Amino acid sequence: MKTRWYKDAVIYQIYPRSFNDSNGDGIGDINGIIEKLDYLKDLGIDCVWLSPCYKSPNDDNGYDISDYRDIMTDFGTLDDWKRMIAGMHERGIKLVMDLVVNHSSDEHEWFKHSRTSLDDPYRDYYIWRKGRGRNGKKPPNNWRSNFLGSAWQYDNRTNEFYLHLFSKKQPDLNWDNPKVRQEVIDICNYWLELGVDGFRCDVITFISKKTGLPNGKPSVFTGHEHYVLGEHWNEYINEINKNSWAQYDTLIVGECAMINDKQTVAITDENNALLDTSFTFEHVYLDVMNKCALRKLKAVWRKYQTVPSTCWTSNYLENHDQSRCIPRYAPGGVWRKKSAKLLAIMNFFMRGTPYIYQGQEIGMTNCEFGINDYKDIMSINILKTAGKFGLKRFAHKKLLRSARDHARTPFQWNNRTNAGFSTGKPWMMINPNYKEINLESDLASSDSVYKFYQNLIKRRRNVNYIIKDGEFGEYYTDSNNIYVFSRTLGNETLYIVLNFTTKPQIVAKPNAIPDGKVELIISNDDTLSSASNVIATTLQPLAGAVYKCSKG
Ligand code: GLC
Ligand code: CA
Repeated sequence: MKTRWYKDAVIYQIYPRSFNDSNGDGIGDINGIIEKLDYLKDLGIDCVWLSPCYKSPNDDNGYDISDYRDIMTDFGTLDDWKRMIAGMHERGIKLVMDLVVNHSSDEHEWFKHSRTSLDDPYRDYYIWRKGRGRNGKKPPNNWRSNFLGSAWQYDNRTNEFYLHLFSKKQPDLNWDNPKVRQEVIDICNYWLELGVDGFRCDVITFISKKTGLPNGKPSVFTGHEHYVLGEHWNEYINEINKNSWAQYDTLIVGECAMINDKQTVAITDENNALLDTSFTFEHVYLDVMNKCALRKLKAVWRKYQTVPSTCWTSNYLENHDQSRCIPRYAPGGVWRKKSAKLLAIMNFFMRGTPYIYQGQEIGMTNCEFGINDYKDIMSINILKTAGKFGLKRFAHKKLLRSARDHARTPFQWNNRTNAGFSTGKPWMMINPNYKEINLESDLASSDSVYKFYQNLIKRRRNVNYIIKDGEFGEYYTDSNNIYVFSRTLGNETLYIVLNFTTKPQIVAKPNAIPDGKVELIISNDDTLSSASNVIATTLQPLAGAVYKCSKG
């Protein structure tokens, strides 16, 4: 059933709350997406990954689901959704939905039942334990929530604790219960029957917890060694795969936090009937303390570029949980557009499916939030906790670099009221730089980032057969200034040169790159574009190029 169409696809992520508001309530919605389908078609993408649009009380912006079969009231109705997917499919665009089944909302019917009594039929849908200590008021173990604090919440209705690896309004589902796994299968099949083309599986590495829930080694995420790819993980995922995902022509991409390349290979190998591919976190962990050195970034990508041919990677620089790639991996300011294009080249010429996060295609950047502007539960928890130690300002400074909020400011469509996102008061602040950075002015400029992306998608399509199956080569691996790699299939080599600095760099052509016919596939720099059949040896600041070299 699987055609593995995603190996030729470019995927665009929509965070619905911040994309386009059609009815002026300040919240992006499904009709807003419908209004922009031609925009997506023109960009040239093949598939949309839509962040959760299910019923939710929005403790974590939809990642806390209270009804898996219906649409969030803020976003519209199931009929709107049906028109949206039909509109996508008419345009040849596939739809991948978010599947959030490590936890539900505490407002889901299952949980409402579950908490009522010890013998409720839904009790075992969640992970309940007695507390420790004389009066049972101490959490059952020392696990920490990924949103800070204990991972346990006491519930006085039954005097037990429930586990929540995220907020206390996101109780973890008990995957050891076969009924829960059957529910997940039914939910997947429900949406697949409605036509969806796959799922992005939220924190999927966390679903199987170690029997006995032992204490963890103290760390920021205490307990993770007992729930990341836990003891029944393969068995449970294989069960969902067999009974649902493999029955349709799906893309199943896992959000795979806290694992390394070897584990990734094991769970994404085509022969293992688990996930098709995954998002690694290794490159986004690099700059937790300091700015990320290019050499380290290259070392991570190298590992994922050299996985066995039965594995497939998913390449991203941004999503709704990450700050913007500018200024994260390349400078903004006067360099913004050139950086945006340079990073796009890097991302798109790696083997794997490239992802674009909304706004990345016009070079949107991080936002200068004030200390009270954050909306994300994680940022708010960080500020609250830091506040207890008098470290609020310090936390704010950190958040200005890394908050998830940076990716969630509304899309900047034009320079008019609210950046054209909404006629009402937006649910979260618009980045004040929208007067300068917005789609309309980008399109009107001669060095448009959007048009570059359009061209990049087209140009890459013609040579993806080389990217997909070609052998990976890399040069100047120790350099913190340049990134130089290649892909070779038969007599053809794609040669990619990227200057990550604001100074010119000399790059002698490596011997491994064949002499012969040279064709420039794409470049973000005029000096390179004007000499399109000669391999560049001098790269201007932040210049990048891709050449196709044919032997003979
Ligand atoms: C994933 C989502 C993130 C969410 C978390 C809990 O990491 O991408 O936005 O907060 O899971 O569902
Ligand atoms: Ca709306």
